[in-house]
Amino acid sequence: MHLDNHTSQASDLLDPSIQGQAFDDKNINPEFSKKYFIESYGCAMNFSDSEIVASILAQEGFKSTTNEKEADLILLNTCSIREKAEQTVRSRLANFNKLKAKKPGVLIGVLGCMAERLKKKFLEEEKIVDIVLGPDAYRDLPNIIATAEGGQKAVNVLLSREETYADISPLRLGTNGISAFISIMRGCDNMCSFCVVPFTRGRERSRDAYSIVAEAKDLSQKGFKEVTLLGQNVDSYKWLNPETNEEVSFAQLLVMVAKVDPTMRVRFSTSHPKDITDEVMYAIRDYHNICKYIHLPVQSGSSRILKLMNRTYDQEWYKAKIDRINEIIPDCAISSDIITGFCTETEEDHQETMDIMRYSNYSLSYMFFYSERPGTLAARKYEDDVPLEVKKRRLSEVIRVQNQVAHELNKKDIGHTFEVLIEGNSKKSDQEFKGRTSQYKTVVFPKHENYKPGDYVNVKITAASPATLRGEIILS
Ligand code: 5AD
Ligand code: SF4
Repeated sequence: MHLDNHTSQASDLLDPSIQGQAFDDKNINPEFSKKYFIESYGCAMNFSDSEIVASILAQEGFKSTTNEKEADLILLNTCSIREKAEQTVRSRLANFNKLKAKKPGVLIGVLGCMAERLKKKFLEEEKIVDIVLGPDAYRDLPNIIATAEGGQKAVNVLLSREETYADISPLRLGTNGISAFISIMRGCDNMCSFCVVPFTRGRERSRDAYSIVAEAKDLSQKGFKEVTLLGQNVDSYKWLNPETNEEVSFAQLLVMVAKVDPTMRVRFSTSHPKDITDEVMYAIRDYHNICKYIHLPVQSGSSRILKLMNRTYDQEWYKAKIDRINEIIPDCAISSDIITGFCTETEEDHQETMDIMRYSNYSLSYMFFYSERPGTLAARKYEDDVPLEVKKRRLSEVIRVQNQVAHELNKKDIGHTFEVLIEGNSKKSDQEFKGRTSQYKTVVFPKHENYKPGDYVNVKITAASPATLRGEIILS
């Protein structure tokens, strides 16, 4: 679920420039007419956080706008997972500062993962932002805005061990009214050596299970047909019920959410191979509305590289996990994240990555070349010694393998019928719908008057490309 130029497949779940939507609150003081514009980068978690921010701003009386030119407050929810993402934010900030030059009262804020690392640079040295707020400090937004309006440095990048925003009802942004994210945990304790997230998002903590179920119920009542439970490492979700002193595991949470509404699909992301349990697989097998799809990033196929990455599993162990999924849920699709050109990676290591992709039969992969992130274990311990052109060549090779694997896999679907949740018109034609199977595969098919977006429909597959299935509706 990442937006990046180096992915071969960009997730449709995320709109690259999701922006705020109008919010109508009768309690708002009519005198107050300030508007905010918010733009999000990075993972689904970040997009979900923007919905928390939107909710906090709405309570303060702010109205949203999708036109940055009419905004009084411009917020960028940033990502720092790869260098490229940081560069994009920089160029956006340059644009917003041009706007500010014409309209000096405007406040510009940087939220999210870049906040901690770049607060000094952006706020004090370059003076290109007025507000810097880290991912655990959004409740402080009203104070911070007041501070910035008073012309002072407005910054809060404190990370928390408890904050889950459990009681804040997200204001859905850029929604199609069909799919929504539910954040179930924050932070990450894994310390993969390439990853900046433990530093930008802090320690792992799980959200109150009942607040998650309540959010799912609310979405179901509003007509949503799909929820995606989000966390950096959902399988290590663990919430202790203070009343009963009983622990709720991720498998139990999945079932609790699945039971809310059997016609509402439940997805989740991301799973760490070391933590996904048989119980989770049984839940997927046993509940029709828990989608038959697991995002199980391998990162590399080489046991030596996996050790350097601190992934805590090796090639054999990962393959056994794939075998187990196939055994318990034979119709489950599996997807992955891959990094090429990690420190010391040889051609043999690279071949092993391509081998494990073939072994795992990924329906989809998000593929990146390694980009060193300041402060990470790898940046401190290993030399970033694979030349950029080699990283890029290897990336293009893994993309080729992924396309082959997905194409072969998709061809096997021809002649079979799948339940598809209709999401809207296809990109190319308003005569066609696009939707997804439980396996998260995109299907395009001619419209039929009986069906509209948000409906389930049975579609028989007639053709397959690496990224898309085509089919026709089977009327029941
Ligand atoms: N360089 C390249 N890719 C990275 N990822 C995380 N950190 C880096 C990095 N430093 C990728 C991993 C992860 C996904 C979210 O982003 O594949 O699973
Ligand atoms: Fe999401 Fe932050 Fe990671 Fe970017 S760095 S992908 S915003 S968690």
